[in-house]
Amino acid sequence: MPNPLLKTENISKIFEVGSMFGAKKHIKAVENVSIEIGENEILALVGESGCGKSTLGKLMLALLRQDRGRILYYLNNAYKDIWSLKGEEFKEYRRNAQLIPQDPYTTINPMRNVLSALTPPLLHYKIAKNRKEARKMAAELLTMVGLVPPEDFFKRYSCRLSGGQLQRIAIARAISVKPKFIVADEAVSMLDASLRIEILDLLLNLKKKIKTAYLFITHDFAIARYFARDQRIAIMYLGNIVEIGKTEEIIQNPLHTYTKV
Ligand SMILES: Nc1ncnc2c1ncn2[C@@H]1O[C@H](COP(=O)(O)OP(=O)(O)OP(=O)(O)O)[C@@H](O)[C@H]1O
Ligand SMILES: [Mg+2]
Repeated sequence: MPNPLLKTENISKIFEVGSMFGAKKHIKAVENVSIEIGENEILALVGESGCGKSTLGKLMLALLRQDRGRILYYLNNAYKDIWSLKGEEFKEYRRNAQLIPQDPYTTINPMRNVLSALTPPLLHYKIAKNRKEARKMAAELLTMVGLVPPEDFFKRYSCRLSGGQLQRIAIARAISVKPKFIVADEAVSMLDASLRIEILDLLLNLKKKIKTAYLFITHDFAIARYFARDQRIAIMYLGNIVEIGKTEEIIQNPLHTYTKV
């Protein structure tokens, strides 16, 4: 594997949920997980609903904090605990680690048009010098994700975009800040079957231009196999990574019962 960009060391996340009768229940959403993602690598994370995939993704993006273990990110020539990063370094981590969410309708604030959804991150991270440059970059991004001519999309609100178009905008926004790591959490599962391959191919083509590592979360083996061909798959079951390896090897020769099923 190329140099790990990000690694988790024995991380666990436990949720405490109250029951109707006041007794507290603990859910081990992620248990003792150690995985590595190399620069520019795709790691597909597959498992049934509720096994902890999204929680693991959120932990790796520092959107949630683990209860145990640590997550190391390679930054300025050293591995650093992401929760020890401060100031500019934490900001850099935030920029470098992006999410493509499942539900494209939650991506854009319904009160904002496409242009005003795309430009703030460009300005915030000083990728664009000013509004004019941000607008130009937004046009380039829309073109890259196949929304042309871009000017036709600038003034549109999410209610006037299809699910597929919104997902393209979510992708444009994620790649706009030149991240090194993207968590794509069920990024195509809400789309029509006919659109899925189109969006997966778009992601794979963009990946050739913008070198980015992916944690690609899905409950669908066929989609994982397609997206992570020649790469790696991790199988998650009840909060644990039960199997990890080369995509074809895992699929041809599954060891864990869940994988076999
Ligand atoms: N904020 C939370 N509070 C309490 N429990 C939670 C929370 N988030 C997740 N869980 C629980 O943790 C477990 C793992 O959830 P998670 O969403 O990570 O699974 P998943 O594999 O992404 O599922 P799906 O395929 O349905 O998206 C589930 O039992 C879920 O109910
Ligand atoms: Mg999920």
